[in-house]
Amino acid sequence: MKIVRSVNRMFKISSAARRAGRRIGFVPTMGALHQGHLSLIRAARRENDLVVVSIFVNPLQFGPKEDFKKYPRAFSRDKRLCRDEKVDFVFSPPADEIYPEDFKTAVLVKGLSDLLCGSSRPGHFQGVATVVSKLFNIVSADTAYFGQKDAQQTVIIRQMVRDLNIPVKIRVMPIVREKDGLAMSSRNIYLSSRERQDARVLPEALKLAKVLMQSGQQDSRVLINRMRKLILRKKNAKIDYIAVVDGKTLRPLKKVSSGCLILAAVFFGRTRLIDNLIAA
Ligand code: PAJ
Repeated sequence: MKIVRSVNRMFKISSAARRAGRRIGFVPTMGALHQGHLSLIRAARRENDLVVVSIFVNPLQFGPKEDFKKYPRAFSRDKRLCRDEKVDFVFSPPADEIYPEDFKTAVLVKGLSDLLCGSSRPGHFQGVATVVSKLFNIVSADTAYFGQKDAQQTVIIRQMVRDLNIPVKIRVMPIVREKDGLAMSSRNIYLSSRERQDARVLPEALKLAKVLMQSGQQDSRVLINRMRKLILRKKNAKIDYIAVVDGKTLRPLKKVSSGCLILAAVFFGRTRLIDNLIAA
């Protein structure tokens, strides 16, 4: 496994591999790898000749009051995990390789970036779309792997790839959860033990929505209200949003239908967690 720091070198390696007919699987991450990330890396390994994992904590996608500085960084451990998964290249550039001083461009996926998570995190998805389009150009992968955990991110990336004719296939892998149902996230380590206990209510609320849907409930308002009530039983939980939306357009739906998304973002203390469910 090789560690690549330079954009130029990564570009040369991957374009040569692609010219040689090797299939490249690419997994973009911000590091602090957990089983969720590893599920993407394993899928990439199964389906490609060459696997590239990027580890880059992208300053552009953090708001001024967000956790860029304290975001967990665990490069030695990440390297070991990648080596164990038979990753070929870890691309981990310094920030000024990706954003030199005279950097001026932004990628904005209009209409999808300012709602849901985007409305409480202004600029976040512009930062994501900008860095991911750069990474796609640098790595020239056949297939890039993303997690359903960040449902809105995957919708935005798919739209961007279509709109900009980026020659990469997007694969979205299911959410990997802890034993008690909490979706794995690099941010879970911020939770106090009390908050960690309380956070179980987030997957429980989605499970409740699933049970209600299975028993024939189709009214989004009813589902949202029942989820809201369950979550608010925890004193320290603060709901950012709960929404039932179309899986492609992210527009709110009055009635649930197969393939629609039920999304929730909830603060436990100062930590904001997200989770979602695709309706069957
Ligand atoms: P990061 O939060 O490190 O996540 C990297 C990838 O892992 C994303 O596609 C995310 O959806 C996926 N992932 C995270 N937790 C998961 C889980 N529990 N189950 C399945 N997949 C999971 O998302 C980002 O980084 C950044 O925005 C990035 C795309 C790298 C751009 O900077």
